[in-house]
Amino acid sequence: MASTAASIFNLKDTSLLHTQGFIDGQWVDAKEGAKISVTNPATTEEIGQVPEMGIAETKEAIEAASKAFKTWSKTTAKHRHDILMKFFALMKEHEDDLARIITLENGKPLADAKGENTYSASYLEWFAEEAVRTYGEVIPSAMSNLRNIVVKQPIGVVSILTPWNFPSAMITRKLGAALAAGCTAVIKPPAETPFSCLALVELANRAGIPPGVINVVTTNANIQEVGKELCVNPLVKKVSFTGSTGVAKLLYGYASSTLKKVSIEAGGNAPFIVFDDADIDAAVEGAIACKFRGSGQTCVCANRIYVQSSVYAEFASRLAERVAAFKVGDGLDSETTHGPLIHERAIAKVEHHVEDAISRGAQIIHGGKRLSRTGSFFAPTILSDVPADAVINFEETFGPVAALTKFETEEEVLKLANDTPFGLAGYFFSRDVGRVWRVAEALEVGMVGTNTGLLSQAVIPFGGIKESGLGREGSKYGVEDYMNIKFIAFGGL
Ligand code: SIN
Repeated sequence: MASTAASIFNLKDTSLLHTQGFIDGQWVDAKEGAKISVTNPATTEEIGQVPEMGIAETKEAIEAASKAFKTWSKTTAKHRHDILMKFFALMKEHEDDLARIITLENGKPLADAKGENTYSASYLEWFAEEAVRTYGEVIPSAMSNLRNIVVKQPIGVVSILTPWNFPSAMITRKLGAALAAGCTAVIKPPAETPFSCLALVELANRAGIPPGVINVVTTNANIQEVGKELCVNPLVKKVSFTGSTGVAKLLYGYASSTLKKVSIEAGGNAPFIVFDDADIDAAVEGAIACKFRGSGQTCVCANRIYVQSSVYAEFASRLAERVAAFKVGDGLDSETTHGPLIHERAIAKVEHHVEDAISRGAQIIHGGKRLSRTGSFFAPTILSDVPADAVINFEETFGPVAALTKFETEEEVLKLANDTPFGLAGYFFSRDVGRVWRVAEALEVGMVGTNTGLLSQAVIPFGGIKESGLGREGSKYGVEDYMNIKFIAFGGL
């Protein structure tokens, strides 16, 4: 562990900070010794380095996972339950340190980082409980001398590729399901936030996960070839990815070479609709939670906010009052309510969306520009009268910009809301029970929030339709994505 990194992280349990990859139960450097510099987005300062690994290390990690699968897949579900519950308990025990790591590498405020740790740990608890319920079936036979049995078996080695916006929860959402099912894993954490992943592996080891069951390959410059290897290697049987739709399409193409099972949670462009019969206070609170969670950097954040004309002015002014009270700053500062964006590329995209909307006639109600301080900070922004042809209506912003558009009728807003290739989440506020059913059914998304701006929990089937993804994570469906269904005909009775 580099001593500078140790002093920056200042953890109670210093052994949670690892600066090496993890293959076959060993902490390892890159064969060629290259390093990735990891920075704090709130200060732009380097907080540590991890190895720049490549194809050779990736192949070793896959081989280790394949070897470990032979024994891990044969353990009892109760054994895997017990280990996952220990892992869960360790995450709770070390929540202060784990939250600090998240804040330092991702930028989100400490309170949000603690919230992420709770959310992240809940996937381990949930999948521990699911491990012992991966039931098979007996199907009534069409032949008198035959009995039909269905069993579920772990799929094999899983490649897990995760984003930086939830450095911990996006790993446990996949890893918890994989381990519960009896699969082994190679994780490629994001180059921006590798330390949360490495700390989780430390805790997994303490919980009793055997060598080779979890492996971690850190990479940045070599991401193209490492990503490809994780998808084409014949020893890998499933790929689970959360990230942009562009990268998802590339990985899906690679994985098709060996017809691997694929789970994808990709970009969203969530509509958030406020009808004139809504509780406006609740709608404003919902919009704050939904739009500005993680400073707008979640796949389920509202991207397009449609407000019915008779309540538009009231909603806009109340939203502006709430946003004006935000304290934007370093996540380690206890006053901070909203942290930085992850890097300069994120700022550039947000700037482009705001400038484009303004050039087409939108007005700024609040914010509108980057903050003149060190770090990648953009002012929480509200845009009014955003026209239908603005780029922000077609692309995910992944930043703190609330783009408001007025509408007149339910029919009109449903057309606008569904006019996108994406279909992850959608939200609306209404107190008319008939409308609640109609709109919930009509929105072309995988997840709907009615009268709420937050829906994420381990117990729900998280995922999208259209170009937002394949498969579901969390819930009783999540573990099934890591299992094969096998039919066994019992003859000769
Ligand atoms: C994501 O942004 O991909 C996940 C968000 C969540 O789990 O709530």
